[in-house]
Amino acid sequence: MGVRWLCRSGRRLPCGIMMRFGLSPLSGSGLVLCCLLLGAVQSYALELNLKDSKGTCLFAKWEMNFTVSYETTDKTFKTVTISEPHNVTYNGSSCGDDQSSAKIAVQFGSAVSWNVTFTKEASYYFIDNILLSYNTSDNTTFPGAANKGSVAVNSSQRVKVPLNDIFRCNSLLTFKVDSVVQNYWDVHLQAFVQNGTVSKEEFVCEEDKPVTTVAPIIHSTVPSPTTTPTPTPTAIPTPKVGNYSVTNGNATCLLATMGLQLNLTEEKVSFVLNVNPTTTNFTGSCQPQTAQLRLNNSQIKYLDFIFAVKSENRFYLKEVNVSMYMANGSVFSTANNNLSFWDAPLGSSYMCNKEQVISVSRMFQINTFNLKVQPFNVTKGKYSTAQECSLDDDTILIPIIVGAGLSGLIIVIVIAYLIGRRKSYAGYQTL
Ligand SMILES: *[C@@H]1O[C@H](CO)[C@@H](O)[C@H](O)[C@H]1NC(C)=O
Ligand SMILES: *[C@@H]1O[C@H](CO)[C@@H](O)[C@H](O)[C@H]1NC(C)=O
Ligand SMILES: *[C@@H]1O[C@H](CO)[C@@H](O)[C@H](O)[C@H]1NC(C)=O
Ligand SMILES: *[C@@H]1O[C@H](CO)[C@@H](O)[C@H](O)[C@H]1NC(C)=O
Ligand SMILES: *[C@@H]1O[C@H](CO)[C@@H](O)[C@H](O)[C@H]1NC(C)=O
Ligand SMILES: *[C@@H]1O[C@H](CO)[C@@H](O)[C@H](O)[C@H]1NC(C)=O
Ligand SMILES: *[C@@H]1O[C@H](CO)[C@@H](O)[C@H](O)[C@H]1NC(C)=O
Ligand SMILES: *[C@@H]1O[C@H](CO)[C@@H](O)[C@H](O)[C@H]1NC(C)=O
Repeated sequence: MGVRWLCRSGRRLPCGIMMRFGLSPLSGSGLVLCCLLLGAVQSYALELNLKDSKGTCLFAKWEMNFTVSYETTDKTFKTVTISEPHNVTYNGSSCGDDQSSAKIAVQFGSAVSWNVTFTKEASYYFIDNILLSYNTSDNTTFPGAANKGSVAVNSSQRVKVPLNDIFRCNSLLTFKVDSVVQNYWDVHLQAFVQNGTVSKEEFVCEEDKPVTTVAPIIHSTVPSPTTTPTPTPTAIPTPKVGNYSVTNGNATCLLATMGLQLNLTEEKVSFVLNVNPTTTNFTGSCQPQTAQLRLNNSQIKYLDFIFAVKSENRFYLKEVNVSMYMANGSVFSTANNNLSFWDAPLGSSYMCNKEQVISVSRMFQINTFNLKVQPFNVTKGKYSTAQECSLDDDTILIPIIVGAGLSGLIIVIVIAYLIGRRKSYAGYQTL
């Protein structure tokens, strides 16, 4: 099987950036704005069209850059960006078949190489593993590196794409692993191309899905075929912070601002899903003693936060009910109505900037980031004074550390005393 190469890199405008600002690429003014702002910043697309006797067997066109931080001999940290594919070769890329995986291998000059593998299973292919290797011995790319040698950074992706679909993701995807930040955008790729021609059928990543295609259905039992929970990369980006609110008549009665990460663990395998606020709908209800916020999107059938008022004029998060669509079309549901989080006086809001973990069940937890909520007594649609979680307050750590230190010391003294007593008993017995 003769494998032919067709590689080129072209200059183009990074309009993936435009998508991040939420401008439609079709809007003329958006395009002009994009060109004005970014006209000077040109970037290069990488492109690989691998062929065999039937035609194209692996196609990819994408943009990426990495930053690598390393320590220099004068004890400072330096960051280099690897972005312009001047000296790029694609040697080692392969189409794969039923037995072996496909691979895109990119070599940037002599110091950096990058590759991604794809595997085929039944009627799907998987974007599996991204391996970035760099050699700090290379003085031109990593001048003055203190530790010289080869470093490999692995991130496993496991994105599932139907065979015969081209995977498309214009949005910026960022992964941070150790001291490396990887950016990808404008990605178009198809592995295991079946008939020698690249498919017209797109499989669009979650980040690209427009808000309008997410129907605001609640309790829908028909999972769409593309509702695959995002697989777990080793470096999970922190979720985007969303503003959610509930109105009662015309007045806002519940406010919540938070980044949400759902973690579903089955048989020691965790699926971590960042809730994308731009594609998530929210509703809810407010009553004097209880308030509810419900989120839903293409992957989450519903995610309910139920707040309650308790004695001493305080509120708290009492209950979480969740139902999610699984990759195989089944629905995972769990609930816990015996929670006790986000406790604050009525008339104030609760705030926690640090990551908090809400354990709903043995299998399901929610990680919250930059949280602020007020489920009761919202006036004029604004948050009241916030009560901050103890995690945010670093000063509390000192007494904890001192306290822990002291109790450690006391334990040591008690043990020493007990050993001493035993020894002296033993001493009496031998007498
Ligand atoms: C790398 O890519 C990101 C995302 O497009 C961009 O914001 C950044 O400026 C790029 N860095 C360089 C040095 O080109
Ligand atoms: C990589 O490919 C180029 C062009 O096909 C070739 O000249 C070069 O020898 C190859 N390098 C290696 C290490 O195989
Ligand atoms: C790293 O680069 C140095 C010098 O350029 C070379 O001698 C060494 O073999 C390289 N290491 C690896 C693992 O490629
Ligand atoms: C591939 O070609 C075969 C025969 O020409 C056809 O039956 C099949 O539907 C094609 N598959 C795709 C995905 O185009
Ligand atoms: C959320 O609301 C706050 C206050 O109204 C605002 O400052 C912030 O920019 C909003 N965030 C998003 C992501 O819309
Ligand atoms: C997900 O949950 C599992 C089991 O509780 C835990 O080991 C893992 O660290 C969690 N991952 C994240 C990103 O929270
Ligand atoms: C949460 O789920 C439980 C069990 O599925 C159900 O009994 C309860 O009514 C639900 N709570 C709300 C507020 O929907
Ligand atoms: C779907 O997968 C989950 C585990 O991820 C499993 O518990 C469930 O039984 C599966 N359902 C079907 C219909 O295969």
